[in-house]
Amino acid sequence: MYCKRIEFINFRNIENEFLELCDGINVIHGENAQGKTNILEGIYIFARGKSFRAFKDRELIRFNCDEAMAKLIYEDKNSENELGVEIHKTGGKRFYKNRVKVNKTSEIIGDFRAVLFCPSHLGIIKDSPSVRRRFLDVAISQLRPIYIKMLAKYNSVLEQRNAILKMDQNQRSQYEEILSHYSEELASLSADIAGMRIDYIKKLDYWVKCFFDEMMKGREIPKISYEANAKENDQESRESLKNKYSCLLKDNLEKEFKSGSTLYGIHKDDLKIEINGKDARFYSSQGQSRSLALAMKMAEGEISKEYTGEYPVFLFDDVLSELDENRRKYILSKIEKRQVILTSCEPLDFNEIKNVNFIEIKDGKRELFKASNEIIEKIDTVDGSFEEDNFENSDDFIIDNISQNEDEE
Ligand SMILES: Nc1ncnc2c1ncn2[C@@H]1O[C@H](COP(=O)(O)OP(=O)(O)O)[C@@H](O)[C@H]1O
Ligand SMILES: [Mg+2]
Repeated sequence: MYCKRIEFINFRNIENEFLELCDGINVIHGENAQGKTNILEGIYIFARGKSFRAFKDRELIRFNCDEAMAKLIYEDKNSENELGVEIHKTGGKRFYKNRVKVNKTSEIIGDFRAVLFCPSHLGIIKDSPSVRRRFLDVAISQLRPIYIKMLAKYNSVLEQRNAILKMDQNQRSQYEEILSHYSEELASLSADIAGMRIDYIKKLDYWVKCFFDEMMKGREIPKISYEANAKENDQESRESLKNKYSCLLKDNLEKEFKSGSTLYGIHKDDLKIEINGKDARFYSSQGQSRSLALAMKMAEGEISKEYTGEYPVFLFDDVLSELDENRRKYILSKIEKRQVILTSCEPLDFNEIKNVNFIEIKDGKRELFKASNEIIEKIDTVDGSFEEDNFENSDDFIIDNISQNEDEE
C-alpha cells in the first residue's frame, strides 16, 4: 500500500499545501519546528483515527483558524482511494471515504494502514505497561475491525463498573446485581480481547526473533508473551480465560471497593519481553532495548502484511538520527519494496537506494519538490474550499481510553 498524495489546509502550521509521494523512500527534510512531524501526524491520522500527539483534535487547527482539513490519496492492491478529515474548532471531527461521510471514526480504521516509529517508541521496552498496551491496541485495530468495537464496549462497561465501585456503602447495595452483571461482561470481553492479543503476540514473537537475530547475529534470543493475571499459558481456551478473569473480579471485590476502580482485566495486562530468559523490561541494556523496539516496529509491518497481503506505509519521525550507524544501516537494508516516509533535520546518506524523493519543508511549506534528485516542479497550491456542514461529534477513538488506564505503581 502506498500514500500517493497528502493535502493540508490550515493543519498545524501548514496553511495550504500538498505533497506528492513516491512508493519508495520519501525524505522530508528541514530545520527544527518547520512542520515535518506535522506532516506525518496528518498522514497517521488516517491509520489511527486520531492524532498520535494532540491531546485534543482542535490543537490540529492552525492558530486563529476555525477548521482544518487533511486529505490522503492512497493506493492499495485493489484500488485508489481518498480519505479526508475535517476538524472543527467546536470539537467536531469528521472523516470521509471517497468523499462520502463516514458515521463513525472506527469505520475508516484499517483502510489505510501505517506503522509509525518515533524516538519515544525506542523506550517501549522500559516504558509503563500502558505504552505497550497501546502498541498492541493500535496495531491490532488496523488489522481486525472487531477489535476496536470490543475495546469500545469494554471501555464503556469499565467506566460504569468503576462508577459503582466509587459509591459509598449505602448507595452501592442497590447495585449488587448490576455490578455482577458488569463483572461478567468485562470477563467475557477480556477473554475475547486477550485472545486476539495472544494471537497477535505469537506472530510478534516470531518476527521479533527473526529481526533481532539478524541484528544481534544470534547471540541473544528474545521472547515476547502476553502477561495477564488470568493467564497461565498461551494455549489457554477462551472459556478458561473468561473464568479466570471472572474469578479475579469476584474474589477481589473488597479490594476494588477500597481503591474505587476495577483492578483486573485487559486494561491491566502487559507484554512480557525477555532476552535470554531475563525480563527485558528491567534488565535490558539501552542497546538491547533499542534493538528490540526496532525489531517490534519491523515486526508490526510484517504482521500487517501477513494479514492483508501488502506492506503498510512506514512513517519514521526523526528516528534514523537517533540510531547508531549499525542499526541505521540495518533498518535501511530492510525497507526496500516498502513505502517509507521519514523526517530528518540532518542530511542522510541514501546513495545505495534508488527510489528516493527529497522534500524540503520550511515554515509549513514545501520549498522544492525533488524526485530522484531532480527538481520537477515548484510549489503549487490546492483549492482550499470547505464543504459547509454541521459538525457533530464523531465517536472518538477508544484506544487511548483503554490503554491509558492507569498503571499500577
Ligand atoms: N495549531 C497550530 N497552528 C500553527 N502552528 C502550529 C500549530 N501547532 C504547532 N504549530 C507549529 O508547528 C511547528 C512544529 O512543527 P513540527 O512538525 O513539530 O516541527 P518539526 O519540523 O521539527 O518536526 C512549531 O513551529 C509550532 O509552533
Ligand atoms: Mg519533528
